[in-house]
Amino acid sequence: MQPFTAPFSRHDFGDDFLWGVTIAAFQNEGAHDKDGRGRSIWDEFTQRKGKIKDGSNAFIATDFYHRYPQDLLLAKMMGFSVFRFSISWTRILPKGTGEVNLAGISFYHRLIDACLELGLTPYITLYHWDLPHALEKKGGWCHRGVVFAFEEYVRIVVNEYGDKVKHWIVLNEPFGFTSLGYMLGVHAPGKFGLSYFLPAVHHVVLAQAAGARVIRDEVRDAVIGTTYSCSHIIPYTQNEQDLLAARKADALFNRMFLEPALGLGYPVHDMPLLKRIERRYALWRDWDNMTFDFDFIGIQTYFPLVVRYNAFMPVVSVSEVKPRSRKVPVTGLGWEISATGMYAMLKQFGAYRGVRRLIVTESGAAFNDMPVDGRIQDKERIGYFTEYLGAVLQAQKEGVPVDGYFVWTLTDNFEWAEGYRARFGLVHVDFSTQIRTIKDSGYWFKTLLNNEG
Ligand code: NOJ
Repeated sequence: MQPFTAPFSRHDFGDDFLWGVTIAAFQNEGAHDKDGRGRSIWDEFTQRKGKIKDGSNAFIATDFYHRYPQDLLLAKMMGFSVFRFSISWTRILPKGTGEVNLAGISFYHRLIDACLELGLTPYITLYHWDLPHALEKKGGWCHRGVVFAFEEYVRIVVNEYGDKVKHWIVLNEPFGFTSLGYMLGVHAPGKFGLSYFLPAVHHVVLAQAAGARVIRDEVRDAVIGTTYSCSHIIPYTQNEQDLLAARKADALFNRMFLEPALGLGYPVHDMPLLKRIERRYALWRDWDNMTFDFDFIGIQTYFPLVVRYNAFMPVVSVSEVKPRSRKVPVTGLGWEISATGMYAMLKQFGAYRGVRRLIVTESGAAFNDMPVDGRIQDKERIGYFTEYLGAVLQAQKEGVPVDGYFVWTLTDNFEWAEGYRARFGLVHVDFSTQIRTIKDSGYWFKTLLNNEG
């Protein structure tokens, strides 16, 4: 195998820099009805016609539930020292609250123990989008009761594993699951419109702080973070209306969940729509309960967004100028590749007074990988990582407190509404046989991370 070298060494990032790889329960585990697991909103959603582009579901996914020992070995072999995964709420509490499923509890004990034995530090995400269906029937994230249910779930999980696991991530991409699931209806639970979206946003903001407080109370020496999707927002022109559109988009995509946690409230000045949340929940006096002093913030930026004013767009009057029309490099999903976007978001998030540390908790790209003679020569993905890591290094040199980079993702897996056609893995999976093949990008990481020089 030829060596794959990068224009930097791992030591340029500092000896304490965390190198990790991330997966998520619903996208990987499969075993959907095994050992008492309850149904989640994604089990329901994948059964609805036309919702998943290739008509697939995640009943088996990558079969991580059974194959985790091999998959962890792959992560270790490539040189990673952090393994980030999420817990499936319905394996622990099949109905969302109430009766605890001991078989589910024991699965995550086995997984955690396997990580520790291999020297992989577990970073556990408590919520990566698979809400119990039983809770959705009561209104899901639109119903205030979900906050208490989430606290109950978090308490059970951290009491169970808190002696072994110190690194906790409360939510994965709150903007992602509220906007796609409760505004646009393209992700579970398939709701659309502001009457769902705004309450969902508020309850998620409350849950992110409430969940974090539970961890602080229950786990000694816990290191607590939460993750955000974010996009560098670029106005299409410098005219006043486009600049205003860019400020709105920034408030919506990048600030709406972070700023309440930091005690800054909702960014109502740039996104007046959010005043509706303030009015609606005024009597509850929730404002102090939205804050939490996180030990780190996870940032996940896949692409920048070029935006312009558009009077015909409902609610926000903003539209995106698509990468295709701008002739910029894109991934297999048509997402613009921009290391500058990564750099800009690290600078932007790093500039908040209340942000102590940043970790890139996901970063990666989907390309149309084709195995040729048993090898996957994903040069484009290597190029992507080279550029994005270069941006991380640059931001770090300029003083941004970023001290980790976790790749999305270990193996190809179930990419939500895209199904299996979007392959993000460092390891290729043949979904008919579950055979894993390390891609060239995986070997590239192996060289980077195992290289002592
Ligand atoms: C963010 C999500 O957290 C993850 O589940 C998803 O697969 C990746 N982005 C790629 O879209």
